[in-house]
Amino acid sequence: MSKPRLDGKVAIVTGGASGIGEAAARLFASSGATVVIADVQDELGEAVAASAGCWYMRCDVTDEAQVEATVGAVVAAHGRLDFMLSNAGVLLPTWSVMDMDLRELDRVMAVNFRGAAACVKHAARAMVSRGTRGAIVCTASVASLQGGFGPASYTASKHALLGLVRAAAGELGRHGVRVNCVSPGGVATPMSCALMGVGPEELEAMTVPHSVLRGKVLRAEDVAEAALFLASDQAAFVSGHNLVVDGATTAVNPAVLHTVGRISEIFLSQKELTSRL
Ligand SMILES: NC(=O)c1ccc[n+]([C@@H]2O[C@H](COP(=O)([O-])OP(=O)(O)OC[C@H]3O[C@@H](n4cnc5c(N)ncnc54)[C@H](O)[C@@H]3O)[C@@H](O)[C@H]2O)c1
Repeated sequence: MSKPRLDGKVAIVTGGASGIGEAAARLFASSGATVVIADVQDELGEAVAASAGCWYMRCDVTDEAQVEATVGAVVAAHGRLDFMLSNAGVLLPTWSVMDMDLRELDRVMAVNFRGAAACVKHAARAMVSRGTRGAIVCTASVASLQGGFGPASYTASKHALLGLVRAAAGELGRHGVRVNCVSPGGVATPMSCALMGVGPEELEAMTVPHSVLRGKVLRAEDVAEAALFLASDQAAFVSGHNLVVDGATTAVNPAVLHTVGRISEIFLSQKELTSRL
C-alpha cells in the first residue's frame, strides 16, 4: 500500500507547536498539505512552522471566537479547509476524584472538550458550506476508553470527546465529512513528562517494561502516522472510529496477561522437561 498523501489539501493542527501536534504538522506538510499550526505558544509555534514549512496562527481553542476566526482566515487565505486535527490538550495533575478541584476540571474540559467541540463545529461549517469532503480527527487518548490512565478530570474530558466525535460522525456523514478519534497510549511529550516530573528518556525507560508490545516505545511520530491515515483518502470509509494507538494496552486485561504469561511459561518448561525424558 502506498503511503497516504495530502497533496493539494489544507489542514489545521491545533496544539501543533509541541509533542504529537508538532509531529503531525511536520508529517502532513511533508505529505503535501498546506498546514496551519494553531496554538497558544507563539514563539515555539512560529519556530516549528518555519522549520516544517507550515504557517502559524495564534488560537486559544477555549475561545470559540478565536477558533471561528482561525478557520475563517485559513479558508480566506487558502481557499478551503480539508482537514482539522483537533489536538490541543492539557492534563492537570490532581489525580484523585476526592481531591478534585472543580476549577481544574473546568479548565481541562474547556481545552480538551469544549475547545475540541469548537474546532469540530467550525471545521464542519467550513467544509459543509463549500461542499468539501473533509476529515476531522480529534486526538483523544486511551483515557477515552478506560479509567486509570490519567486524572479523573482528564479521563472525563476524553470520554466526552469520544461521544462528541461519534455524534458528529453520524451527523456529518451525509455531507461527506468524516470524523474520527486517534487515541494514543503514553508518549513522552512535554505534557506527560511534566505530569511524571521526569525527562523524555526517563519516561520512555519507565514505560518500556510495562509495554505489551515488547521492545517498542510509542512516539509522537507513530500517532501522527495514524492521524495521517485518517485524514487521507485511504480512510475514505472510516468514520466514527476511535483508532487506538497503544500497542494493545487497552485490548488486554493486564492481570489476565500476567496470568497467561505465567501459564505459558509453565507450559513451555513442562514441554521442555518432557522432551528431555
Ligand atoms: N502524551 C501522551 O502520553 C498523550 C497520550 C494520549 C493523548 N494525548 C493527547 O495528545 C494531545 C497532544 O498532547 P501532547 O502530549 O503532544 O502534549 P504537549 O503539551 O506537547 O502539546 C499540547 C499542545 O497543545 C497546546 N495547547 C494547550 N492549550 C491550548 C489552547 N487552549 N489552545 C491552543 N493550544 C493549546 C499547547 O500549547 C501544546 O503545544 C492532547 O490532546 C493530549 O491529551 C497525549
